[in-house]
Amino acid sequence: MGTNQTLVIAHRGAKGEAPENTLGAFRLGLEQGCDAIELDIHLTKDDEIIVIHDSTLDRTTDMTGSIYDMTLEEIKKADAGRWFNEKYEGERIPTLEEVFDLVPADVMINVEIKHSTQGILEPLLLELMKRKDRMHNVVVSAFDYRNLLCLKQLAPETKVGLLYDVNNGSNSALIDSFEAAVYSLHPNYKGIDKEKVSDAIALGLQVYPWTINDESDMAQAIDYGVSGIITDYPGRLRDLLQLAIR
Ligand code: G3P
Ligand code: MG
Repeated sequence: MGTNQTLVIAHRGAKGEAPENTLGAFRLGLEQGCDAIELDIHLTKDDEIIVIHDSTLDRTTDMTGSIYDMTLEEIKKADAGRWFNEKYEGERIPTLEEVFDLVPADVMINVEIKHSTQGILEPLLLELMKRKDRMHNVVVSAFDYRNLLCLKQLAPETKVGLLYDVNNGSNSALIDSFEAAVYSLHPNYKGIDKEKVSDAIALGLQVYPWTINDESDMAQAIDYGVSGIITDYPGRLRDLLQLAIR
């Protein structure tokens, strides 16, 4: 097995046991000892950065509709917890600022940009990260590398991570185009192997595969030497890492 250096990254919070992307899910991840939190962001109609995976309210709240057509005040009326479990009734869709206020400064936050258009969200995100003193421990990732290029042009010190799926290969061309300005790779775990991971680590990159929930898959990724694992079950991964160092 690997070492206890593998970061436990709570996917949308402790998504397996709490309603995703809510303060309740982030609190549970923290209680379970996560080192980092992954979350997804979009912009509302009135340009507020909110934490939600989908671009509509339909799947994860008791309301429906596109978040791009609603203000933050309207979106805050939605219950984002009850669909998951009655005990989470009253959870709201958080703003990113609310999450920054909740999560201790020593816990890394992986902010994934889901908003597809470039140019509006990025300066707002950087303003918030700077105002909340989060530039050093936030990694911003996106499947669309143009979001990341935009951030790097505005603030070269931003830590950015390339997200990709199995069909996108190793993304080596993209890594080259960023001229080593990439902090981390975020591959679908089904597309990694020991060689790919060690090549990336040798380049000085962090490797954070997603989304690993099965213990045997977690153990394999640890054996490959990944820098962290994005999981819906941070408690499970924490337990596995504890066992490995005994
Ligand atoms: O950031 C890793 C993972 O969250 C990417 O996929 O759809 O869960 O946001 P998704
Ligand atoms: Mg995500």
